[in-house]
Amino acid sequence: MAGSFDQVYASWKADPQGFWAKAAEEIDWYEKWDKVLDDSNPPFYRWFPGAVVNTCYNAIDRHVEQGRADQLALIYDSPVTGTVKKYTYSELKDEVARFAGVLKGQGVEKGDRVIVYMPMVPEAAIAMLACARIGAIHSVVFGGFASNELATRINDAAPKVIISASCGIEGSRVIPYKPLLDEAIDISSAKPQSCIIFQRPQVTAELVEGRDYSWSELMEKAEPADCVPVAATDPLYILYTSGTTGVPKGVVRDNGGHLVALKWSMKNIYNVNPGDVYWAASDVGWVVGHSYIVYAPLFHGCTTIFYEGKPVGTPDPGAFWRVISDYNVSALFTAPTAFRAIKREDPNGEYLKKYDLGKFHTLFLAGERSDPDTLSWAGNMLGVPVIDHWWQTETGWSITANCTGIELLPIKPGSATKPVPGYDLQVLDEEGNQVDSGTIGSIVIKLPMAPGNLPTLWNNDEGYVKSYLSGFPGYYTTADAGYIDQDGYVWIMARTDDIINVAGHRLSTGGMEGVLSDHPDVAECAVIGVADQLKGELPLGMVVLKAGVARPDEDIIKELVKMVRQEIGAVASFKLAVVVQRLPKTRSGKTLRGTMKKIADGVEYKMPPTIDDPAILGEIAEALATLGYPKQ
Ligand code: COA
Ligand code: AMP
Repeated sequence: MAGSFDQVYASWKADPQGFWAKAAEEIDWYEKWDKVLDDSNPPFYRWFPGAVVNTCYNAIDRHVEQGRADQLALIYDSPVTGTVKKYTYSELKDEVARFAGVLKGQGVEKGDRVIVYMPMVPEAAIAMLACARIGAIHSVVFGGFASNELATRINDAAPKVIISASCGIEGSRVIPYKPLLDEAIDISSAKPQSCIIFQRPQVTAELVEGRDYSWSELMEKAEPADCVPVAATDPLYILYTSGTTGVPKGVVRDNGGHLVALKWSMKNIYNVNPGDVYWAASDVGWVVGHSYIVYAPLFHGCTTIFYEGKPVGTPDPGAFWRVISDYNVSALFTAPTAFRAIKREDPNGEYLKKYDLGKFHTLFLAGERSDPDTLSWAGNMLGVPVIDHWWQTETGWSITANCTGIELLPIKPGSATKPVPGYDLQVLDEEGNQVDSGTIGSIVIKLPMAPGNLPTLWNNDEGYVKSYLSGFPGYYTTADAGYIDQDGYVWIMARTDDIINVAGHRLSTGGMEGVLSDHPDVAECAVIGVADQLKGELPLGMVVLKAGVARPDEDIIKELVKMVRQEIGAVASFKLAVVVQRLPKTRSGKTLRGTMKKIADGVEYKMPPTIDDPAILGEIAEALATLGYPKQ
């Protein structure tokens, strides 16, 4: 779609349904929709009601039928195991169809839930696509989450089957998954009928007789299963994400809107063509992994890269350049943290000089704010545009971006560029009035939201309305604050809730506070996100002990760190905590987390007018200083 970006955006705004109907022509439907958008039941909206489709067919089968059978669909590159494995579209179809047969053999039917708790092995994608093939709803749980988090998701999704692997590999560490899975099943109230375990050579998991089955043994016996037509409005997957209460929210994704939006995004946002190699260096456990490792590149007939490694240390900071060069990658999508890690280890780009990045044309960053330093460094090193774009698990694709396939707009480091067609973005003050350009406020999306965005939360319409739609009627609250400048560029500045972004991973400080409060010596606590040069933010806990506790602070802190690791997972990166005498509060008893964060970050702050006792802030500053905050 050539032409100026502003023209394309205006054409969407003038006729949103016509715009998406045209985009939907790129999808193979069994039956077309009755209408493009059902807006008869606000604030609930459904895209393409009446249409019948299959996501897996659009990701794989149609490419096999239409000339891409021998093209590579997926390349698994695993520096941590020294493995490379390549699947053509035809080979991927065989694997997925056969695993769909395995699932059917386990009694999985359309609408049943299947939890996928796996590391970055291609079997994770095969499992997801197999679910889509038979209309089952997958829910992938990130491997870095501990049993407790997994159990919460099992309870909510009530899966018929859980698919897992014997282990994950983190750098040089092998992490057995099966004990975590067994514990999660033990503590959850919804028990799966069966578990399918992919045994990796590094660890052999013990299987529970009558409940657990080996992936490869079931595959040997299975008959391939065909695609099952589903309604466009049927759920494709549930992805749990951190919510403000510490209880994860089950974001629902539908089949039809998701297909249309993601297919559109590949050319228009990422400027890649069918046949190109596209790489999202993330994890299938996150939304980036769902949308841009598995689904969108396959919808578009690209080759996707499944990378099991890190940007540094596997084996060196040239890892990303090697992958780009080995497979002729056109576009890379990752989190700014990855580039901060590379920059820290190889500031002059010595490793880059060893590789020819030939076809590479654009770097895309998201997941957290791109600091202008990192963005400029990456741009200078790579000599390609570096695009910051902003989105959320809830939206499934970007809300604002530089739509490089339409027109590469001038890059303003620090801004995630402009709202993408599909999104009417506004900035509101606390009373819900639009603010002037340049003024910070709550960023909201005018309803209806774009195709592919969440239609609701799993089994929780009420929670969906309460969490996202009740703040400003008629709008979806993104919970990000920021502003739109005079050129229409959007600047995302901070979350308005308790979510923090640690190495691009979305975490709830409320969830961590819940864990700390369970310690028998803790009277009360607060967890804040403090600025970190590598991971963007790190959680830091401040705890007040119960009267009379005489144990050494260090012992209690060690226990707290261990508890968060056990309850939430290593991914929380919770390693900083300090004991304080009191927490600063407003006169109505609200803990002043924002002010404590400013003190920790060394940012100027105003004394909150409602503060109960200003002297406490001095005590907090002293406590933070013992941990070396603020950093110089
Ligand atoms: N399974 C088990 N443990 C995991 C895990 C997984 N899938 N993913 C991470 N962890 C563990 C890590 O090993 C680490 O454990 P440790 O505290 O014992 O060292 C901990 O969780 C924190 O992980 P992380 O924050 O990723 O730190 P790291 O030091 O391992 O790596 C980076 C730092 C910057 C290299 C890494 O975060 C990275 O590559 N980020 C890229 C961004 C990204 O993929 N974002 C996803 C959203 S787009
Ligand atoms: P997640 O749901 O894990 O994708 O996290 C979404 C949140 O990450 C957003 O609400 C933002 O707070 C943050 N985020 C994602 N992308 C960006 C970006 N490009 N700039 C600033 N913040 C971002």
